Amino acid sequence: MSWDAPSLVVAPSLLAADYTRLGAEAAAIAEAGADWLHLDVMDGHFVPNISFGPALIKALRPATDIPFDVHLMIEPFEPYIAHFVDAGANGITVHAEATRHLDRALEAIRDHGVKVGVALNPATPASAIENVLHRVDLVCVMTVNPGFGGQRFLPNAPEKIASVKRLVGDRPIRIEVDGGITAETAPAAKAAGADVLVAGSAVFGKSDYRQAIAALRD
Ligand code: DX5
Ligand code: ZN
Repeated sequence: MSWDAPSLVVAPSLLAADYTRLGAEAAAIAEAGADWLHLDVMDGHFVPNISFGPALIKALRPATDIPFDVHLMIEPFEPYIAHFVDAGANGITVHAEATRHLDRALEAIRDHGVKVGVALNPATPASAIENVLHRVDLVCVMTVNPGFGGQRFLPNAPEKIASVKRLVGDRPIRIEVDGGITAETAPAAKAAGADVLVAGSAVFGKSDYRQAIAALRD
């Protein structure tokens, strides 16, 4: 199981899967060539929607051995980090907007021995993470306003991805894009510097998962 390879990671979001059979969906998506499984945790407070928590993630852990990329859209998130680590998260991404003490929070995630990610809402400038880059393995650029699957990729997102890429420079930090990623929008995201593509509806919304994942890679 590797976080670092391959060079382009496709991370389907379980948010768009069939909720009556999530274990089978997680296994099927891994079998179809997904590199990571993206898990969107929402609290109805930081974002206007509620999804699932650590118990569901823990139940899914035996279904596949691909990395679990846990995206926390919850505030506060600090009290729950240990629960998500215990549930089997390989990486935890938290929002810069969801804490007053981002540096401390990222250090706490690092102390749990999982990969550390920081996410930025569309209105948050890339510069918000300038002083914490040494603490992260991944920057998640939200390319829609978080809360729901199936939204349209924001037109100014490539510019934002490019600003993050400039800031990251040569550091070994992955740049993830999340929201509205389809075979049509992925090329612009990749060209701007993204190397982790999260996709919900563009993968789980299709009947052939393997083909949908391949379409995002090409
Ligand atoms: C949005 C979530 C995304 C979402 C993406 O708040 O963070 O991960 O599932 O869904 P699509 O790919 O359908 O835009
Ligand atoms: Zn997400």
